[in-house]
Amino acid sequence: QVIDVRPLISKKYFTFDPGFTSTASCESKITFIDGEKGVLLHRGFPIKELANHSTYLEVCYILLYGEPPTPEQYATFKTTITRHTMIDDQITHLFRGFRRDSHPMAVLCGVTGALAAFYHNGLDVHDQNHRELSAFRLLSKMPTMAAMCYKYSIGQPFVFPRNNLSYAANFLNMMFSTPCEEYQVTPVLERAMDRILILHADHEQNASTSTVRTAGSSGSNPFACIAAGIASLWGPSHGGANEACLKMLEEIGKAENIPKFIARAKDKNDDFRLMGFGHRVYKNYDPRAKVMKEACDEVLNELNIQDPLFEVARELEHIALNDHYFIEKKLYPNVDFYSGLILKAIGIPTSMFTVIFTVARTIGWISHWKEMHDEGLKIARPRQLYRGYTQRAFKSQNFH
Ligand code: ACO
Repeated sequence: QVIDVRPLISKKYFTFDPGFTSTASCESKITFIDGEKGVLLHRGFPIKELANHSTYLEVCYILLYGEPPTPEQYATFKTTITRHTMIDDQITHLFRGFRRDSHPMAVLCGVTGALAAFYHNGLDVHDQNHRELSAFRLLSKMPTMAAMCYKYSIGQPFVFPRNNLSYAANFLNMMFSTPCEEYQVTPVLERAMDRILILHADHEQNASTSTVRTAGSSGSNPFACIAAGIASLWGPSHGGANEACLKMLEEIGKAENIPKFIARAKDKNDDFRLMGFGHRVYKNYDPRAKVMKEACDEVLNELNIQDPLFEVARELEHIALNDHYFIEKKLYPNVDFYSGLILKAIGIPTSMFTVIFTVARTIGWISHWKEMHDEGLKIARPRQLYRGYTQRAFKSQNFH
């Protein structure tokens, strides 16, 4: 049931809802979630069908424009995205200003924000064509910058984008090719990467998307708004969860240690939480987690990888799903529970996990930013409950 509080606000009432657990800040036609039933639809299409029968770029088109592309529209979109993948050479100097051991998310956040300084002349966010061009640029350049973050962190030269590769294959090539050896992107790895991107593409008003909308609501430069989204995504309660989840699985190490960690997760005096479990909206199995688990199974089988952590994850899931605490609190595996294991199988280092999420989620952020502008802006300005002093007299101590 939706209560429209706008008439009440005009009578000087406002709602107090920390963390916006039940407050809608906007109307949107992009993504639908039914958290009780575990349903996720993008523009009406179930996530499982998209993950199994489409490509990431097709999903991007659907999120951005609302309808699946015709073959001609898809070809034009693909060509456009491919043509914008290069980064201004000045940006390479910017990378060199960062410490090599910086977290790649810190670098990506900085470099994306810096793009605002490259794309500002003549950029009018009120012009639909300019908004579309910004969307293309962000979608195209994010994988290039993400791979550059990795190459910089390991001290290798940057690899230029390749126009003859798919979005996912081009990213893997920029990550793993070197001047001495070209990386061979196999169809299994390419498809696995593409699926990971699809499964993280959008998730309505999560913390980072809301941040992008809030930043954009003042009419700010889109590259700066996306940098704000990256900052929000970085946290372990949001995009940082798959990195934290893999670390947790490594710490658990073997199935016999699981009960100890379950007990810690239930202990109110211990801050520890089972990473990859629980969700603000899903009070049922996260539909993305189901597809992710299948994909993980497939990738490990096809690559013939025996990862003991996958067994630990499966057993942990089984124990938690049958545990009274997790049942009562409706804590189910979320998308991040298995994604770290697939990324590990692809060869992506743990420090890059949230960066991959950023690459995938860029389309969600842009689509919401674009929708907000297309539908008409209202500046985000939440209220607060003031709990500080009432008015009091200031006594000057004559410091100057
Ligand atoms: N392990 C143990 N207990 C948990 C967990 C967990 N992973 N998640 C929630 N709980 C418990 C809380 O302790 C709380 O218990 P209480 O009622 O006794 O105080 C109750 O469940 C509700 O938890 P909240 O934090 O209030 O739920 P909220 O909706 O605010 O948080 C969140 C959701 C942040 C995702 C939380 O479940 C969590 O921290 N999970 C682990 C991190 C994670 O996997 N994040 C990824 C989310 S998906 C994504 O961003 C792509």
